[in-house]
Amino acid sequence: GGTGYLGTHMLVELVKQGYEPLCVDNLHNSNPSVLLAVKEICGKEIPFIKADAGDVAAMRALFAEYQIHFAGHKAVGESVAHPLMYYRNNYDSALTILEMCLKHGSALVFSSSATVYGVPHFLPLTEDHPLSAVNPYGRTKLYIEETIRDVALAHPEFNVSILRYFNPVGAHESGLIGENPNGIPNNLMPFVCQTAAGIRKELQVFGDDYDTPDGTGVRDYIHVTDLISGHIAALKKLETKPGCIIHNLGTGNGTSVLEMVHRFEAVNGVSVPYRIVARRPGDVASCYADPSKAFEELGWKAVKTLDDMVRDSWMWQLKGAKN
Ligand code: UD1
Repeated sequence: GGTGYLGTHMLVELVKQGYEPLCVDNLHNSNPSVLLAVKEICGKEIPFIKADAGDVAAMRALFAEYQIHFAGHKAVGESVAHPLMYYRNNYDSALTILEMCLKHGSALVFSSSATVYGVPHFLPLTEDHPLSAVNPYGRTKLYIEETIRDVALAHPEFNVSILRYFNPVGAHESGLIGENPNGIPNNLMPFVCQTAAGIRKELQVFGDDYDTPDGTGVRDYIHVTDLISGHIAALKKLETKPGCIIHNLGTGNGTSVLEMVHRFEAVNGVSVPYRIVARRPGDVASCYADPSKAFEELGWKAVKTLDDMVRDSWMWQLKGAKN
């Protein structure tokens, strides 16, 4: 997933930290031209190979010391409509990557998601909160996590970091790389950006009758560069051979949809017309992390503010996003 939203930010940070990344992507919903922007930011050409993580022969030929796996599809609605595609792409390719890790003695960083907590029983979410899945996308993340735990039990020498992402937003401060959703965005921030830019007429706010301070859904938005620095911290931890480790990557702060819209307008001096509509099926009222385990064990915490997130997302919309 090296040419995707998180992958491109990861490449930039790996180069900055002195690593020599190899970018692998099947280009399913991204374009290799983003590597020109990556080169412009970090002054280095990243070797690129077009391959699918589920392609055993290709992975066999490629496998190096570490494998960062961002290659999952991530649209919940699409996963409900095409469950087999999700199980094939996300689950099957994870099995291939795990086999390669064992064979080559490589460590793995797995991109999991707060979706594995299902409907929160308590907040903030700690890593020991019970796990469940409410859609095929979430189920692939949960199955992969469970599989990783089985593999780690059977192979104590295997070092693996499971990172549970909350809601990544924002873009690199250069405005050269960011999220490029295909078609109508599902996620809040790209939709807000496109509405402010006049590409969408208005934002639909999915429900204002939740049990939250202003009635709209509360999430833990995290700036993508903070999320990436969490991966670097996890990579460094893996060098100490810790076995299987699991961490939330969130800020610990909950922000409602309307708070986000109003912050976006105030910081960027633009208007985001919106309308309250019915709740979106499957949404929970509130979801935010307890990020203290990552701080204690990885020495990592998010440092960017909500203002940084809305500013950088807007700059990317103006400079780089395909409109
Ligand atoms: C969604 C997925 C989650 C996945 C993540 C990946 C669902 C139910 N969850 O998280 O499993 O890991 O994306 O990035 O799809 N909202 C609006 N109007 C919009 C879009 C969103 O009001 O047009 C609201 C939502 O109701 C929610 C908040 O904004 O309260 C955030 O939504 P979104 O960005 O889609 O993220 P999640 O639903 O948290």
